[in-house]
Amino acid sequence: MPRPNTHLPFFPMSTYYITTPIYYVNDRPHIGSCYTTVLADVAARFHRLFGREVFFLTGTDEHAEKVVLTAREKGVSTRQWADTNAQAFRDAFTRLNVSFDDFIRTSEPRHTSKVEAYIRELLAKGHVYMGEYSGWWDASQEEYLTETVAKEAGYVSPVSGKPLVKRSEKNYFFRLSAFETRLKEHIDRNEDFIRPEARRNEVLGRLREGLSDIPISRAIPADAPADDPSRWGILMPDDPGHRIYVWIDALFNYLSAIDTPERAKFWPAGAHLLAKDILWFHAVIWPALLMALDKPLPRTIYAHAYFVRDGRKMSKSLGNFVDIDTLDAYCERYSRDALRWYYATQGPLFATDADFSHAKFIEVFNADLANGIGNCSSRVGNMIVKYFDSKIPDSKGVSELAGYDWPSIIGQSVSAAIAAADRLDIHAALGEGRALISKVDAYINATEPFKLAKKIDTEPGARDRLAAILYHCAEAVRAASLIMSPAIPEACARLWQSWNCQIPVAHATQTLHHLCEYAGEHALKPGQAIVKGDALFQRADPAEAAPGTPAQPEA
Ligand code: MSP
Repeated sequence: MPRPNTHLPFFPMSTYYITTPIYYVNDRPHIGSCYTTVLADVAARFHRLFGREVFFLTGTDEHAEKVVLTAREKGVSTRQWADTNAQAFRDAFTRLNVSFDDFIRTSEPRHTSKVEAYIRELLAKGHVYMGEYSGWWDASQEEYLTETVAKEAGYVSPVSGKPLVKRSEKNYFFRLSAFETRLKEHIDRNEDFIRPEARRNEVLGRLREGLSDIPISRAIPADAPADDPSRWGILMPDDPGHRIYVWIDALFNYLSAIDTPERAKFWPAGAHLLAKDILWFHAVIWPALLMALDKPLPRTIYAHAYFVRDGRKMSKSLGNFVDIDTLDAYCERYSRDALRWYYATQGPLFATDADFSHAKFIEVFNADLANGIGNCSSRVGNMIVKYFDSKIPDSKGVSELAGYDWPSIIGQSVSAAIAAADRLDIHAALGEGRALISKVDAYINATEPFKLAKKIDTEPGARDRLAAILYHCAEAVRAASLIMSPAIPEACARLWQSWNCQIPVAHATQTLHHLCEYAGEHALKPGQAIVKGDALFQRADPAEAAPGTPAQPEA
């Protein structure tokens, strides 16, 4: 059993398992897959800073029929196409500085063998039976729609707009209906289970219509050739005439990846992160499967909204997709920390969709990074270099000035950031760091250290007052940088290097409170040398064309 972590009142576990959806390999990564993954990374880094042992999983979902079809179009084997794109996801996430602990591919034997074992267990326990299914098949989503949903959508796919096909087949069914009551009770009793609130209500609403059993296999026609899409996947145990439905196969990744003696301690997951498109699978089908396997349920299924472009859904046909090349171009020009910050603070974290807008990107980059932590840390660093011969000044025990009680201001920001990050409110958690920087700026304006500096040789007490002010500023900037570091780890690491206060971020065994503690164990030590360091972020020019956008012809 995981050991309780008494420093963390909100979820007193010493381990934290966080996952992203596993992405279809029929396409390359894009703004959406990168968003969820960076968000999960920021959460994972926060939890490491809270002293938890984190396991962060991402990966690829490979057994979809569309993978076979796209590979055919491209003239390569399905395996090759899956390999190429799985690698593209792994590389993209690495370029975005995502600190995943494992990358699972559903075509790997470590996954397929486990899925087989889970299905065997479900069969043995009587939760799976053979039956006949008939419904509206949405080929683009690999999903059956009920008559009601199909009718509402005008018998075309609500996602791709392609016609639905009436299909019926003999299938293995999972007794989803048997878990309806338990599931409703669980959602009712655990406010944290489905979040945000709007999504929880959506699921509760749909659950009122009742649950039917669902097919979990697809029949393989006896005459299907070896490379037929129907054969691409994991076979039903002891029945080569059926393939396990890709969604069931995929959901099991969350379990298969940690189903080893060393990793078992990570279950139940702290959070499954995803977008609203795949909420039902995660909030209803997945928990019911877990109940059937007698496994404890994850703490939170968190479904964010969508990134859109100019208010419209992004799609290839509209040609308004922010693709991985554009994202790479943003990283190249403004740094990957900059893109991560935009994602983490401006993304569609709650129920409302968010626009990806270049103007907003620049505005936030300049306000929060270049003029925010960047400018504030150089101001403070430069004054220490100039007035105290590049050595951290001694506050001589003074921790409160001009109405600012720094140990308590810092402590409150840290507490608020922990509480926010723990409920996955990443906007608010990072906002605490940003607000702390603003407080330092306001404090500098109120105490005017640059004016005081002119009097240090003439006015008694001026030098001590200046030393105290700059020590407070530096300690507050250090704490702010720690709080912001899950989103902008590289800039913060550079700052800590310049200020000679390297912090053991990865797999920290200390809690954030301890790391940030004013004048505490990890604090800046009076007399310690610092260097000026380069600006953390260069101000961006709002007039410059967006990266990755071809130059517009002049009118
Ligand atoms: N393979 C399934 C998931 C199986 S999980 C057991 C799948 N894959 S997907 O490649 O289509 O990825 C969907 C996920 O990508 C969404 O849930 C979301 O996390 C992310 N996004 C895709 N487009 C998005 C936006 N436009 N905006 C934000 N995130 C979106 O579904």
